[in-house]
Amino acid sequence: MFFAIVQLVLELLVLYGKAFFMILEGIFRLIFPVSEKSVKDEVVLITGAGHGIGRELALQFAKKQAILVLWDINENEIQNVAEEVRKLGGVAHIYKCDVSDLHQVESIAARIQQEVGDVSILFNNAGVVNLKPFNELEPAEIQRTLSVNTLAHFWTLRQFLPRMIELGRGHVVAMSSVCGILGGPYTTDYSASKHAVIGLMKALEEELHFIGKGDIIHFTAICPTIVDTGFVHHPHTRFPEILPILHPKKVAREAVNAVLTNKRIAVVPSWLGYLIPIFRLFPDKVFIMFQRFLDQAANPNDSLRAKVH
Ligand SMILES: NC(=O)c1ccc[n+]([C@@H]2O[C@H](COP(=O)([O-])OP(=O)(O)OC[C@H]3O[C@@H](n4cnc5c(N)ncnc54)[C@H](O)[C@@H]3O)[C@@H](O)[C@H]2O)c1
Repeated sequence: MFFAIVQLVLELLVLYGKAFFMILEGIFRLIFPVSEKSVKDEVVLITGAGHGIGRELALQFAKKQAILVLWDINENEIQNVAEEVRKLGGVAHIYKCDVSDLHQVESIAARIQQEVGDVSILFNNAGVVNLKPFNELEPAEIQRTLSVNTLAHFWTLRQFLPRMIELGRGHVVAMSSVCGILGGPYTTDYSASKHAVIGLMKALEEELHFIGKGDIIHFTAICPTIVDTGFVHHPHTRFPEILPILHPKKVAREAVNAVLTNKRIAVVPSWLGYLIPIFRLFPDKVFIMFQRFLDQAANPNDSLRAKVH
């Protein structure tokens, strides 16, 4: 009993020591950021690459000389993006794919393995939103949100993660949202779907750590506030100078940086990412008060893209 207590105390001391150094490292990294890894000639698959943030991600990864695999349900739009990538001197392979359809994901993943090779970065970006009061949401709309925004991540991961583990390298990125950390009005289905993918990233990382493969695959969740892509048509923000509606280029730049520096969670804008954990130290009520104070939100029935697709 005595030795067990001594052992526990020693282990706790080691744990506290490590935690202390991690905090110091975090502060050091604020001043001297981690150097970026190269994605030159790496195969980067981006879903929902035909428009908005996905399009910008494709262009920015192209500038880093990655080989792009672009998926979207809208074939014309990914064709246009592929043209833009080629104009930058990049390589893009396009595949029309509805990520919510398990069978399409399976058959297109098999084609990619043959036609392009191993995917080393999987960026699950495709997403939809309804922006409806909870009582007005139809079951089919809820199912669609969860299928595209959450289940699709499982379908693509089932195809590409085993090979990453086999090769001993890879990076999985989930496009979440601040709605994956906070809740907002008219986003019940959307918030649930975005919380879920953060949970998926965290649990997968722990599972790989548990089986001794913790350091080979990186997991990242991107959590932007509202972005000007038409996804939310007329958003409002109380302090546009402090918390503006973001440009997709900025979000893609921060997302690409998060991948290149192996960040776990990247909130965009990044200053909000530093504030959220600080407010988490206070009771929940304080956190919610802070969120309501900033007051950035969507209006009901206000998604252009929901009407397009
Ligand atoms: N715009 C925002 O305010 C905002 C904020 C936070 C997070 N996000 C997230 O960022 C991601 C991209 O959003 P965006 O603003 O660029 O939206 P967008 O509508 O401009 O682009 C989304 C793309 O995904 C494609 N897509 C939709 N359903 C698909 C499916 N089933 N299969 C394949 N492709 C499909 C669309 O055709 C479109 O090209 C989404 O996951 C969204 O939830 C957006």
